[in-house]
Amino acid sequence: MTEYDLAIIGGGPGGYVAAIRAAQLGLKVVCIEGRGALGGTCLNVGCIPSKALLTSSAKFAELEKLAVHGIEQTGAALDVATMMGRKDKIVGDLTKGIAFLFKKNGVDLIEGWARIMAPGQVQVDAQTVTAKNILIATGSEPAPLFGVEIDEVAVLSSTGALALEEVPDHLVVIGAGVIGLELGQVWSRLGAKVTVVEYLDRILPGIDGEIAKLAQRSLSKQGMKFQLGRALRKVETTDAGLTLTLDRVGKDREETLEADKVLIAVGRRPVTRGLGLQEVGVVTNERGVIQVDGAFQTSVPGIYAIGDCVPGPMLAHKAEEDGVACVEMLAGVSAHVDYNTVPGVVYTDPEVASVGQTEEALKEAGVQYTVGKFSFMANSRARASGHTDGAVKVLVAADDHILGAHICGAHGGDLIAELVLAMTKGATVQDVAATCHAHPALGEAVKEACLDALGRAIHA
Ligand code: NAI
Repeated sequence: MTEYDLAIIGGGPGGYVAAIRAAQLGLKVVCIEGRGALGGTCLNVGCIPSKALLTSSAKFAELEKLAVHGIEQTGAALDVATMMGRKDKIVGDLTKGIAFLFKKNGVDLIEGWARIMAPGQVQVDAQTVTAKNILIATGSEPAPLFGVEIDEVAVLSSTGALALEEVPDHLVVIGAGVIGLELGQVWSRLGAKVTVVEYLDRILPGIDGEIAKLAQRSLSKQGMKFQLGRALRKVETTDAGLTLTLDRVGKDREETLEADKVLIAVGRRPVTRGLGLQEVGVVTNERGVIQVDGAFQTSVPGIYAIGDCVPGPMLAHKAEEDGVACVEMLAGVSAHVDYNTVPGVVYTDPEVASVGQTEEALKEAGVQYTVGKFSFMANSRARASGHTDGAVKVLVAADDHILGAHICGAHGGDLIAELVLAMTKGATVQDVAATCHAHPALGEAVKEACLDALGRAIHA
């Protein structure tokens, strides 16, 4: 029987990237995955399928806007099955790609659900795996809403909303977070009436408030409806479909909404059940989040954890960073993750991208800052492509270092990379502003926002 250096539980972006990096560093690695496919939530039922559907639905929505270009189109028809087939093929190809990378790097794969029996010992069905160290990378799953049962037919989680066979008449989305907005926009573009119900009085909690407002304005203009300050209390099935009862937050009043589908997107929770954590003494908090130290070690020596099941944002790229840093430290290489420079992107149109501190957080912390802003309306490439909604906003310290950067606009998820690099490397707004940006390009809005922070924007 092989004695491994590292047994990784979970083959999502955290686990599979850690496995490959550990193998590169010369460790003998096994990855254990029970889903039947590598890639975790992100590849199978999250980031990738949602991006495939966002792309397809954007093309469908674009048809209506072609007349202004002098292009007439008639007779366009929607075939949801073909759209879903394309999405499934992309997912299948990518998951097989990871299996290939495992082979190439000499990572062993065991298919099945793992349970930790003791430090250094993992049980997968009848097989016992022994390893010097164990890494838990089991990710997260949709958080349930008390009293609401998800059947993936009428009451959906993100998994069900990624696999509908036809366009619903009225989709109600509970939660104006990342998942609710991305999947809400998919079905809205394909012709559904979409109402987003949100507990708070704003969308996208955690995102800079001004940028979130710009996003809401643009999404509303495109047809999505928002009902803020409302919490879902119950869902009843009637002959006509679903009746949702909503509480008006702080108002002792109820309202009802009729829908044929409802998507519950109120957050995610770590997957730590069934792993035997309690029995081996791995400490979790009341929400199942595993407590780790700076080297990702849990309360039990030799057992490590990364990604969505430890504190921090539940993002694929954060899990990857965790995984790489964890195995590098195990292999004796110094490593570090700077959580202040982990970007977040919502892939709606317009995209919402952010890194670092929000203006609200800086105010609350009493930090002095300057704001630099530039609207895409004043960017020539945005005008030429018709993507003028949104703006770039930078929050800058007295010494010109960037404290936070926020973008609402087309390709915001790509544009933010420049500001993430600037923050990571300690570049100032002066440095970004002094960098030559191609013209005409959306990236010029980033440069202009930095110039604005210095009081010298050219096109504002
Ligand atoms: P979220 O935490 O982003 O948003 C959930 C929203 O639901 C919040 O605004 C909350 O106030 C609201 N809410 C909670 N209970 C409610 C109730 N009873 N009635 C009405 N509203 C209620 O969670 P979401 O969208 O489910 O995403 C989960 C995780 O997955 C996030 O951590 C996100 O970062 C990650 N993710 C990231 C993506 C990306 O990077 N593009 C895509 C999809 C998910």
